[in-house]
Amino acid sequence: MSLMPLEASDRLVIFGITGDLAHKMTLPSLFRLERRGLLKVPVLGVAFDDMTRSQFVDFARQVISEHVEHFDSEVFDRLAARFNYVHGDFSDPALYSEVASACGGSKSPTFYLEIPPSLFVTVAENLVAVGLTEGDGRIVFEKPFGTSLETAVALNAKLHTLLREEQIFRIDHYLGKDPVMDLLYLRFSNTLFEPVWNHNHALAIMVTMAEDFGVDDRGSFYDSVGTVRDVVQNHLMQVLAMVSMEIPVQDLSDQRADLFRCIPQASLRKAVFGQYDGYLDVKGVKPNSITETFVALELNIESWRWGGIPVFIRAGKKLPVKATEVVLRLSKVPPVFVGGKVRRLKWHDDIVLRLGDDPGVNLAVHVKSPGADAVEPVNLRVDFKTALGEAPSPYEVLLLSALKGDNTLFPDERSVEETWRIMDPLLARTEVPLMYEPGTWGPQTAIDMANAYGGWREPTD
Ligand code: BG6
Repeated sequence: MSLMPLEASDRLVIFGITGDLAHKMTLPSLFRLERRGLLKVPVLGVAFDDMTRSQFVDFARQVISEHVEHFDSEVFDRLAARFNYVHGDFSDPALYSEVASACGGSKSPTFYLEIPPSLFVTVAENLVAVGLTEGDGRIVFEKPFGTSLETAVALNAKLHTLLREEQIFRIDHYLGKDPVMDLLYLRFSNTLFEPVWNHNHALAIMVTMAEDFGVDDRGSFYDSVGTVRDVVQNHLMQVLAMVSMEIPVQDLSDQRADLFRCIPQASLRKAVFGQYDGYLDVKGVKPNSITETFVALELNIESWRWGGIPVFIRAGKKLPVKATEVVLRLSKVPPVFVGGKVRRLKWHDDIVLRLGDDPGVNLAVHVKSPGADAVEPVNLRVDFKTALGEAPSPYEVLLLSALKGDNTLFPDERSVEETWRIMDPLLARTEVPLMYEPGTWGPQTAIDMANAYGGWREPTD
């Protein structure tokens, strides 16, 4: 699907600039972009809070100084010189006249909506009504984009009555992570990996996203969502696409969509749902809630490259570590004659791609035990931060891409709908999830799920 390229943006307008995500991600990312000399446009904040421009600047200084590593007043003053602020009710058309006059003749503004999804259409309709999306204006939608196949299809259909597909940017912050993009670079820039990256040499693909903390202060949000909607349909499916798609020729989005089309729907029979002990006591969680805080599932990719190879995915809260990892488990070598006898190796070789806070690659291979007539596993490990330095944060990458008009790092309508199609059967679950103890790898049935393929690999960071 080729989209018309958009002009670079001449303004960034952020709806919800005083919210939680803006505190943690957006304002610090704007500061870092300013520091790197990459922010070139005026920034208009829009929120409900009644503040003057100068109160907004004070608020932003406070938030940014609390959330960035090295606060620098000169950088902040340069950023603050870009700021303007408008407040009002997002459902009041009068607000949009004010936004339009504050945009002062912008031809290609970027509107970033970090607001409750129930307001997406209202804000988009109002922006269209005052003519702000004419030309190359674009709207960036924070997740979640839909809550099921049906709602995602309806939301896409509604937005397409207002905007062209190239004007719609759906955020999945995992696609802004350097190590996630690096999956493609690693696979296709090295002779070492590509020849084994298929059903001839692989036994299974395993994806783990573990978090060692709970739902904490997000009880009422999380309880209406659960792990499948929160991180599997979006983040982990995008990771899976990077791991398993074909070589992108022109358009990454086409390869992503093709890959998702090869994945049959998930099945409740091949999924295990868990809930950590103590979840029901979290503020905002419904009594007797059956929302999962852990899921493990098996998928298949019915493509020439991957046919017959299972994909195991697990994600959860209150697990033993915080780590996101992809493992390509390779087939066992045949029995081998070394040291005067035939040996059957117990282990598989694994290629491990670490995507979390400690990005890098491990190769789990086998070598001779020192001084002994035996073989044992060792881990060849590279840390990207040590070897290559710190990567920009996902929101820096994505805000910049949206301003440039580059959709590559944003799931298009096909990807969003396909991933909801794949997950849809899991959303119909009525069974109570299995309880697991915090600090464990979820219910035992989930732990056992990959046993026939050598078992899950424990993350190394
Ligand atoms: C968010 C989820 O989208 O991603 C959170 O809502 C989750 O529940 C977070 O903790 C994980 O992101 P990261 O970048 O910390 O792995």
